[in-house]
Amino acid sequence: MPAEGSYQASTYNLELDAEIQRLKAQVVLSWEKEARTLKWFGLADGMNVLEAGSGPGFFTEQLLKLLPNSLLTAVEIDPVLHEKALGYLQDKGGDRVNRIQASIADTGLEDNTFDFAIARLLFVHLPDPVAAAREIFRILKPSGKLVIIDSDADLFWLTNPPWSVEIVREKFKQVMASRGGNLCVGRNLCRILKEAKFGNVDLEAVVSHSDIIGIQAFEPLLDSGPILQMVKQGLISESEIESYLIYRDEFAAAGDRSMMSFWLMACGKKLNRYLP
Ligand SMILES: C[S@@+](CC[C@H](N)C(=O)[O-])C[C@H]1O[C@@H](n2cnc3c(N)ncnc32)[C@H](O)[C@@H]1O
Repeated sequence: MPAEGSYQASTYNLELDAEIQRLKAQVVLSWEKEARTLKWFGLADGMNVLEAGSGPGFFTEQLLKLLPNSLLTAVEIDPVLHEKALGYLQDKGGDRVNRIQASIADTGLEDNTFDFAIARLLFVHLPDPVAAAREIFRILKPSGKLVIIDSDADLFWLTNPPWSVEIVREKFKQVMASRGGNLCVGRNLCRILKEAKFGNVDLEAVVSHSDIIGIQAFEPLLDSGPILQMVKQGLISESEIESYLIYRDEFAAAGDRSMMSFWLMACGKKLNRYLP
């Protein structure tokens, strides 16, 4: 079953392996702060947890370590990533992890099953994010919570020296929108939760800074593969990315460079007043 939205791991980057390494770096970058915020939102060991859009399994691995007595169900639509995760998690979760290949819009899972659900870097790619949130609402137990972790294209990162990415960013937004995604989903997360009938909606930001975790942690995120892939696919012209690549090289060469990135974490609760 291919993914229905703007993310296809096999064609998103120049090489699938490069894409998998990029996903891994994105998990490592901010895991500690995301874990801290997830716990603050109420995630606790022993809960029955759903992970939506689990990809190759790096975030799943961290959740398994954080929650040693929890059962974890990982839903992933892409057969290639589903297989990768099966291999990667083979000796990590034992029978605590249940991997399901399905769309988060139609999981086939039972009503009222999970205490807590997490969807990381998934909603940005969904053509109908409210439908996905409604499906998660259905399979959460009463008082269960959903946390959506995503960013927003106009917020994603800041650098010093400044790296001008406007043309590429606008093009990226257009291409993702044409595939059914929304790179500006970050600003919509609260209303997606509300439209899906979640209550007690709240929003936090996780900020990572190279002055704290080192610039090396950001290097894999500077992978221009996804942009060059769009050039290869004829979606962005070489002239449109010219200044982006010049700034990239200048940034990479700057001795005192720094970088900060922003993830948003929106949480909603399945309140009793909405139950049938
Ligand atoms: C950018 S990756 C993020 C993977 C992982 N959550 C992480 O943080 O590293 C998005 C993932 O969502 C999956 N996905 C996309 N649409 C989906 C859908 N409708 N149902 C389930 N998974 C989906 C993709 O195949 C991919 O694995």
